[in-house]
Amino acid sequence: MFDLLIRGGTLPDGRVADIGIRGDRIVAVEALGEAEAGEVIEAAGDLVTPPFVDPHFHLDAALSYGLPRINASGTLLEGIALWGELRRIATAEEMIERALAYCDWAVSMGLLAIRSHVDTTDPSLRTVEAMIAVREAVRPYLDLQLVAFPQDGVFRAPGGMENLTRALDMGVDLVGGIPHFERTMAEGATSVTALCELAAARGLRVDLHCDETDDPMSRHVETLAHETQRLGLQGRVAASHLTSMHSMDNYYVSKLLPLVAEAELAAIANPLINIVIQGRHDSFPKRRGLTRVKEMQAAGIPVAWGQDCVRDPWYPLGTADMLDVAFMGLHVAQMTHPDEMRACFDMVTDVPAAILGLEGYGLAPDCVASLVVLDAGDPVEALRLRPARLAVVAKGRVVSRTPRPEAQLALPGRPERLRRRHRAGA
Ligand code: FE2
Repeated sequence: MFDLLIRGGTLPDGRVADIGIRGDRIVAVEALGEAEAGEVIEAAGDLVTPPFVDPHFHLDAALSYGLPRINASGTLLEGIALWGELRRIATAEEMIERALAYCDWAVSMGLLAIRSHVDTTDPSLRTVEAMIAVREAVRPYLDLQLVAFPQDGVFRAPGGMENLTRALDMGVDLVGGIPHFERTMAEGATSVTALCELAAARGLRVDLHCDETDDPMSRHVETLAHETQRLGLQGRVAASHLTSMHSMDNYYVSKLLPLVAEAELAAIANPLINIVIQGRHDSFPKRRGLTRVKEMQAAGIPVAWGQDCVRDPWYPLGTADMLDVAFMGLHVAQMTHPDEMRACFDMVTDVPAAILGLEGYGLAPDCVASLVVLDAGDPVEALRLRPARLAVVAKGRVVSRTPRPEAQLALPGRPERLRRRHRAGA
């Protein structure tokens, strides 16, 4: 007898299995015949996957688009300036309300774990107070990790290090940074050292915004790899964005990537935002706003896709759908081989789950009972269709359902009902 049974779904690896759940744990993944359960979800022909994971987001700014005005130039720098205005006038209550609304979107899309950077620049730390309240409110169904993020530079902004440290004291989970926004290359490098030392002293993980620029000389990732090794932080450090690598000299990259791999850094690329923010100072050819994804993977570096922004001072669109993120990344990085498309699905599920260090993630006995049933036959079809999340289960509870959509055609001699599923040869 199970509390919840997901019957006959196709797992990401292609196996067909029933999933039996008791309490908040998966207890069986096998053919369970006519086993009884308090609740049954029929999933024959549908993809059943562990939840989506977003390893890079800004929940304090989400859903604030247009406040107090829009980003007219579309650049990173105008976005930072605009957010600087908004954070002075936004109340904690407003930020909490917007963040909870975003988390509702996330749950409906099967996105059940998010690593969010929280701006620690303003000495009031209202952003931190608000996001800690949100983390506690969503805890029963969504894992929210918070990164202390000195948006205006930990050295460049007055009191930057002090405010970041206070945020950690309040219970923020990770150490963040933005070395490419400090005043000089040297100060950027020093900030990487200081932030890694702080994390090592407190036993925390690190996730820096790193080299989010088109400047090929922005090489803070080199310092990050060095400090990670020096301080024994291997496997606990992520470098987000890394867009300067797109423009770096190939010889230098051939030296850099083995160092990044040796330090066991993880990379997080954010294709939706960087394809619109990078290259803004180019005429033509116009650079793609993405780091070297396939090249890092070939060097053994874990790379995940992150969403970064939804309806905020930097990005006007976004839906909380990690399949949109992977779809964009697949195109920009030209990952169209079947193995590469499959990897893109892993880059919004298993890979970011490992980067976040999520406990009990996956579809196996003893894992946390969180999963998503999609209206698709396999991971590649899920990327193509970005389909309805028919059911979302979080820690043993069904938290969202979406009806299966179907077009009603009115064409002579053609089928009346249309779904866009398609199997090779079928
Ligand atoms: Fe970011």
